[in-house]
Amino acid sequence: MIIQENISLKKYNTFGIDVNARYFCEIRTLYDLQTLISSEIFQNNSRLILGNGANILFTKDFDGLVIKPVLKGIEIVDVTKTEIFINVQAGENWHEFVMHCCKSKWNGLENLAYIPGSVGASPVQNIGAYGVEIKDVLDSIEALNLETGEIEIFQNSDCKFAYRESIFKHEYKGKYLIYSVTFRMSKLPKFNMNYAAVNDELKRTNVPKLSAKAIAKAITHIRKSKLPEPSEIGSAGSFFKNPSASQKMFEHLKIQFPDIVTYPMDSEIKLSAGWLIEQAGWKGFREGDAGVHAQQALVLVNYGNATGIEILNLAKRIIDSVKSKFGVDLTPEVNIL
Ligand code: EPU
Repeated sequence: MIIQENISLKKYNTFGIDVNARYFCEIRTLYDLQTLISSEIFQNNSRLILGNGANILFTKDFDGLVIKPVLKGIEIVDVTKTEIFINVQAGENWHEFVMHCCKSKWNGLENLAYIPGSVGASPVQNIGAYGVEIKDVLDSIEALNLETGEIEIFQNSDCKFAYRESIFKHEYKGKYLIYSVTFRMSKLPKFNMNYAAVNDELKRTNVPKLSAKAIAKAITHIRKSKLPEPSEIGSAGSFFKNPSASQKMFEHLKIQFPDIVTYPMDSEIKLSAGWLIEQAGWKGFREGDAGVHAQQALVLVNYGNATGIEILNLAKRIIDSVKSKFGVDLTPEVNIL
């Protein structure tokens, strides 16, 4: 285990923001982690645990220790008649793991194909797409308590999962390092096909038989057509959450804006943030290297050398303009540091 000093984080965040970390350390084993937490640098500095940096916007240098878990491994830990329990180490790439599941006919995660990020970070914001959230398939989380050095297991119900939320974003923020996640996959085909876009894509490609692999392929295609390719244009996926509205507010908005796009999500009415931002005139906007993606207004992009502050200022202008046009508050989904 090596602690490096003054490392650029540009290649460690998908926005491609060029800031430095005072200290930077990759964790390959649980032993590495236990060694790290007894070091002086760990004890005397603020810390940041970084997965693939796919949901973060750096606005300044990080004057502390960045810990990047790169532990690898996928293991079957239990099998029942209908289910299969898979333990995955935090450093595995999310999309590669999803594709591994599809090939192995372990069902449940296919709708989450092509989401950038690492397995260890995936439960923190309860990643979700096309009607599935990680909470639907997650069994438990193994984490190291960074204060006591003890290993702790969190069951699904301990994690307080909600739309892009978990306990690890709030009460337990910075207190634990998630080093592996156990998923409860189905041996039986149990697909979530509630999204018209997915059905249309499957129809278009004439898929002969529905399978996890076919769904993952269709979703990968949809995502590639709407979201910027992280290796080409910097972004962190959806920058804002889809805001919720009360019934009363929604009815009021619907009179003024009859085309307003909403979602059947939980019990509240969710408004499409992408639609609100597009209607406020921001889709395809660019100033310097900071912009709003031309195919999906919910995604802010860095065309090359934008600073985190420039992206943040753009986000603030969008928030103000959506507020003045619709009276709706947008909140970032991305972690801003
Ligand atoms: N829309 C517009 N203009 C836009 C974008 C969207 O009018 O520029 C409207 C359209 O009516 C479109 C609808 O919004 O049909 C929904 O758009 P989309 O299917 O792209 O979904 P989203 O609400 O923008 C959410 C998640 C995505 C997830 C997709 C698919 C959030 C914040 N985002 O996006 O997650 O992939 O649904 O399930 O919930 C992420 O979190 O980083 C992410 C990409």
